[in-house]
Amino acid sequence: MRLLLGVTGGIAAYKAADLTSLAIKAGFEVRVIMTDSARAFVGPLTFEALSGNPVFSQVLETGGDSEGASAIRHISWARWPDVVCLAPLTQSTLARLAVGLADDALLTVVHAVRPEVPILLAPAMNTQMWDHPTTQRNLRWLQETGRYQIVEPVSKRLACGEVGVGGLADPQEILSQIQRALPG
Ligand SMILES: Cc1cc2nc3c(=O)[nH]c(=O)nc-3n(C[C@H](O)[C@H](O)[C@H](O)COP(=O)(O)O)c2cc1C
Repeated sequence: MRLLLGVTGGIAAYKAADLTSLAIKAGFEVRVIMTDSARAFVGPLTFEALSGNPVFSQVLETGGDSEGASAIRHISWARWPDVVCLAPLTQSTLARLAVGLADDALLTVVHAVRPEVPILLAPAMNTQMWDHPTTQRNLRWLQETGRYQIVEPVSKRLACGEVGVGGLADPQEILSQIQRALPG
């Protein structure tokens, strides 16, 4: 089974390394796409070492990948997975997803994924960002499309010091939901 993991620029980005490792142990092949912000939190080398695959970040970068130098990389990556998970998903990428922007590698690939491939969203953010009306509206809208499954954030003491909803779900729980989302 092929898992495409999208990592965005939140403090919980390091937990995506755990998720990668857990998924590999569970028998998944994993490829990782990172936003530019995510790369400020965790180095791509971590994900390359854990997954054994190159990390994709720049849609307009020249040069090939395993599909060859001539491949349109965002399309070849979009055709690859059996399941997609964005974890952690920032408030900003969630908002851009909700309006259908494809202005980075992650969102370009996500919009090109085949419709039968499940896409899970595991948001993580400060409680005020989570409670913000636009965030809640964006989540409702994404759920209503029927295209996305939400892995709910947890309530805990957050990195910003506040106690409330917005913590990334436990990586093991995210993996369980990924496994349940797989067809057949
Ligand atoms: C230390 C630090 C921690 C952050 N943590 C989060 C977070 O957990 N969730 C979030 O939505 N944004 C967080 N941000 C803000 C994002 O990094 C910022 O909105 C960024 O533009 C997101 O880019 P991306 O969605 O393209 O990855 C944090 C910023 C900093 C400096």
